[in-house]
Amino acid sequence: MTSTIPVIAIDGPSGSGKGVITQRLATTLGFHILDSGALYRLIGLAARKHGVNLEDESALADLAEKLDVSFKPTGDAEDPLSIWLEGDNVTRDVRTDEAGMDASKVAPMASVREAIGLLQRSFKQAPGLVADGRDMGTVVFPDADAKIYLTASAEARAERRYKQLKDKDISVSLHALFTSIRERDERDMTRKVAPLIPASAAAIIDSTSLSIDEVFDQVLAIVTGRLD
Ligand code: C5P
Repeated sequence: MTSTIPVIAIDGPSGSGKGVITQRLATTLGFHILDSGALYRLIGLAARKHGVNLEDESALADLAEKLDVSFKPTGDAEDPLSIWLEGDNVTRDVRTDEAGMDASKVAPMASVREAIGLLQRSFKQAPGLVADGRDMGTVVFPDADAKIYLTASAEARAERRYKQLKDKDISVSLHALFTSIRERDERDMTRKVAPLIPASAAAIIDSTSLSIDEVFDQVLAIVTGRLD
């Protein structure tokens, strides 16, 4: 173990199962959660709310710096945190595909990423943190005790996302989701700042033909091995 407060970094593309695995791991270990994707989504939502252009990097960085957000426990193991922006409950708005698309447009901007660096690191609290994102193991927590890179085919990820959104009564077409996943992959993987790539020490798990229980068992075995 490299730090007194352990950090587990879970990175990977959209729909790879990071969210569910992060929640299960945090519940099992009693650790906190950082949903870094939600922060980028919130910057997009705040920009829309305040009429800030999604191409205006300095205004977005300013918004990101002052982001007034809170995550509150819901008591629901499936969906453990509600998300609040400037006092409004935006848990549902944050999860839409449009919010994901906006997030991936603001995320390539270096000053926006820098503006939420401290906020992200402030989630590292005892007894430990499970951090979910794209650059948790590469940039935000390079000293993480365990690094996992979860991936799956774009088709499998679109189908999972479709089911998740349907379960939350958020309507979207499977084809539109597939297209947006491919578009977001491209943007996230090819951007200059903090591109989505596996950290050098990351364990890579392809979950295309694995059940979520199988993925979780593999992740838990790796993490407990590293935390010993
Ligand atoms: O994980 P989620 O789908 O909520 O992330 C939304 C978008 O936010 C991603 O497509 C990516 O562009 C961006 N993101 C990022 N770095 C992170 C987490 C998310 O660039 N650590």
